Amino acid sequence: MLLIRSSQLSKLIRARHISFLPNALIRGLQSSKSSCVSPAVLIGKPEKLQQPKQQRLSSRFTPCSAQMATAATDIEEIPEIQHEEHKLPPHPTGPQQKFRKDYAPPPYTISTVHLNFILGEETTTVTSRLHVLPNYGLLEEGAARPALQLDGRKDVKLVRVAVAGNELAAGQYMVTEKQLTLNNLPPGEFEVEVVTELRPQDNSTLEGLYKSSGNFCTQCEAEGFRGITFFLDRPDIMAKYTTRIEADEANYPVLLGNGNLKESGKLEGGRHYAVWEDPFPKPCYLFALVAGKLSMKERSFTTCSGREVALRIFVQENNLGKVDHALESLIKSMKWDEETFGLEYDLDLFNIVAVDDFNMGAMENKSLNIFNSRLVLASPETATDLDYSRIEGVVGHEYFHNWTGNRVTCRDWFQLTLKEGLTVFRDQEFTADMNSRAVKRIEDVMMLRSSQFTEDAGPMSHPIRPESYIKMDNFYTLTVYEKGAEVVRLYDTLLGKEGFRKGMDLYFKRHDGHAVTCDDFLAAMADANNVNLDTLGRWYSQAGTPNLHVSTLYDAASKTYTLTCKQNTPPSAGQDIKLPVLIPIKLGLLGPDGADVPLRLRGPDGSVTDLGTTGVLRFEEAESTFTFEGVEVEPVPSLLRGFSAPVKMHVEGQTDEQLLFLLAHDSDPFNRWEAGQRLARKLLLKLYAAAAAGGGADNAKDVGERCAAAGGVPDAFVGAYRAVLGDETLDGSFKAMAVSLPTGNELMDAIEGADPPLLHHVRMYVVKQLALQLRPELEALVAANDDKPGEPYHFTAAACAHRAIKNRCLAMLSSLEEPEITQMLLNRFKDATNMTDEIAALSCLVELAGPDRDVALASFYDKFKDEPLVLLKWLGLQATSNAPGNVALVKSLVDHPAFNVTNPNNCYSLFLGFGRSPVNFHAADGSGYAFMGDAVLRVDTINHQVAARMVSAFTTWRQYDKERQAMMRSQLERIVSHPGLSENVFEIASKSLK
Ligand code: BES
Ligand code: ZN
Repeated sequence: MLLIRSSQLSKLIRARHISFLPNALIRGLQSSKSSCVSPAVLIGKPEKLQQPKQQRLSSRFTPCSAQMATAATDIEEIPEIQHEEHKLPPHPTGPQQKFRKDYAPPPYTISTVHLNFILGEETTTVTSRLHVLPNYGLLEEGAARPALQLDGRKDVKLVRVAVAGNELAAGQYMVTEKQLTLNNLPPGEFEVEVVTELRPQDNSTLEGLYKSSGNFCTQCEAEGFRGITFFLDRPDIMAKYTTRIEADEANYPVLLGNGNLKESGKLEGGRHYAVWEDPFPKPCYLFALVAGKLSMKERSFTTCSGREVALRIFVQENNLGKVDHALESLIKSMKWDEETFGLEYDLDLFNIVAVDDFNMGAMENKSLNIFNSRLVLASPETATDLDYSRIEGVVGHEYFHNWTGNRVTCRDWFQLTLKEGLTVFRDQEFTADMNSRAVKRIEDVMMLRSSQFTEDAGPMSHPIRPESYIKMDNFYTLTVYEKGAEVVRLYDTLLGKEGFRKGMDLYFKRHDGHAVTCDDFLAAMADANNVNLDTLGRWYSQAGTPNLHVSTLYDAASKTYTLTCKQNTPPSAGQDIKLPVLIPIKLGLLGPDGADVPLRLRGPDGSVTDLGTTGVLRFEEAESTFTFEGVEVEPVPSLLRGFSAPVKMHVEGQTDEQLLFLLAHDSDPFNRWEAGQRLARKLLLKLYAAAAAGGGADNAKDVGERCAAAGGVPDAFVGAYRAVLGDETLDGSFKAMAVSLPTGNELMDAIEGADPPLLHHVRMYVVKQLALQLRPELEALVAANDDKPGEPYHFTAAACAHRAIKNRCLAMLSSLEEPEITQMLLNRFKDATNMTDEIAALSCLVELAGPDRDVALASFYDKFKDEPLVLLKWLGLQATSNAPGNVALVKSLVDHPAFNVTNPNNCYSLFLGFGRSPVNFHAADGSGYAFMGDAVLRVDTINHQVAARMVSAFTTWRQYDKERQAMMRSQLERIVSHPGLSENVFEIASKSLK
């Protein structure tokens, strides 16, 4: 499963989200003082150009400067510019794997990069001047200096190359589809100048330089810079960049680059230019450029040391009214990072540009973040509470990368979790601090369990620091991101906030301005706190989710309570034997009144440590025991509070009574929720087993009968839900999550040969039984949490909580499929004044078969046909629907004018959304699989990254029944053997088949 972090219909858009995440609690927005600016000619604070003339980039290729000419050269004089097309040899054999163990420092480094972009409608010309430094150390007598091998891409046309001021003739270099090799290089430092020609308007991969909605933009992470010019495209090459951009002024009034605007001006023929200079050395994946017709909204932030930073968001003019929330989120992020980690922004300008065509969610390019427009634009009428909260989180995430990723970056791509795991942890903490910590934690764990655990148990399982890859793009995974963030959280749990901060401080002190490794991060944490973290280090190299088994023993005579903990991690591809890892077990013990009892832990030497009422046990052996003293009565253990480690925990002998007790009393809100989930999981698995034993899945009615015969939903379970719904101390967002059943995905790992539609029907049976028995409570909550008439939308924690519980109750009620409820949903859909409520009602209606569904969908389309981001929701709702026979509808949507196959968001909504429907993607006749297989092959001709995410829908094939396994497998086989398949799709499909 690949990662796309993202928005509403996270179930659609975010491949990581198999389940729909409930709304987060969001604190209110402060009113924003903002100023609107019409399309600016040039953006930035112009400073006088101080550069000597010969160092400036010219609009055409210029012979090398005087400075370069002084470099010694052993290359012969080279003839004048040569514009011949270079014939490329055929594609080298098959895809090549890269291994972490093969890392070697590069033989050359680059200190400065001067880029000149002449943007054109037909061709764009890029001139790149590199200052190259030898890094090969002392050579043996007579040994040749190593070659300089620059990465390239087949759509990058080499126009000319010069070394130390001398243009190379055709025979003096080697160029393939992927590489430019320079030999016979001068000793010492020298300059290399490379001129390339590009056709950004034809670049549908959305990597490198491309066009979106008529504007030029770039995406270089992970290896897109080689799609612009031949370069040492690896993150340990950190250089200072100067970028000159030249374009037609009328069509591209805004020209943006990294760093500070140094110079700008008009040129002949209606053209203009801008020169940007980034004072911070950076890897090329952080390079960015934007040129287009954009409008801008600006605010200012005063940093803790009193510097003024201009914050600007650029969007298409008609979207200018939808950027306030993102701007506000940026200000909150900047303040939070100063307060939490003492990290101040380091330039006078921070730009965000929204683009419609973007493979990922957003990108942290130095001072020029580029965002998928769905993660910037929000208005009450077009964005849900979830969109608002996601925008806040992603704006924070990309901003936080300025320190964790940009100032300190990764040595190689195997270390990706160093920046992503850490930055996800930081964005999680930011959201927790801005909103509700408990709600955020539950949301994150739901996603981890329903998606990352699945990935870690399947054929794509890999450690958070992978050992090998074919395409790095395929390793922006839930494991690297979400499990990676969990591993960072382990340090935080073990060392405490203060200890974690000490570790972070030392990490920046040691590594600012460098490209480093996960081991460096661990060492900084360990050294700053003077602790040994070797067993924590194992989390970086072992794939798979560890199992934690806990058994308990109360000894009434000695009043001691003993936990015996065992751990094991299942073998995975290439890793048969796993070592024990460090598992911090945060826990409490509940006394008979439900309150926590004091924790007095007995040490091996008999000494006793007072842990208060919530303690953290350091469990790092295959098996250990922990004994607490002075426990008056046998307690109910509350283990792994706050989900203190990403493991699957089994508590031996844990009874329903204990879980009900925890659900009612645990002081840890996460574990209250968790107790409810465990109860629901037990029940669902039991009913599924009964339903599966009773026959096929086609008849949903029968499923109900079989479940009822197996005992149905017991009163105690209904009573527990009733208690949660009626608990006035609980917040609505928490309640909404507490009465949500575990996702199908999460349950699937406990079912051998699962039948996804059957599991769906069992879940729906339970929802319906709950709705039948709790109807008065649900209706009362809907009424109590409804908007007051005329109340405007506010994105505040309280307002979101009201909507969350109200819409959860409505969804449960809609499962009754009663005419008056359906009518009420239709009315709510019609009268909704914000997108959260509107889409909530529509998503209930879409699950129903019949005319109401079609009418609602048609009216929604009509209302929002000019709002592309809302149409993504419209596509996604239909795609994910479990309404019977929906495959045909989804097929027809591919030809709908609202659908654009070249736009990633469209594909994510429609295809990934469809892949998440347990009923229709997994239709027994295989029609869903065939449709997806066709779609993968079609999209692969346009955008490999998007196609690779789509093919991930098949990787879980081993979880299902024999018939489905065979059909999914045969789609994978068809895909792998397809001529001309991309490396991206090949890697996922072939690994899935292994
Ligand atoms: N650096 C990534 C974006 C990226 C990754 C772009 C790979 C291209 C290739 C960025 O910081 C990121 O992680 N974005 C996430 C959202 C984030 C909130 C987790 C994304 O785009 O999904
Ligand atoms: Zn990131």
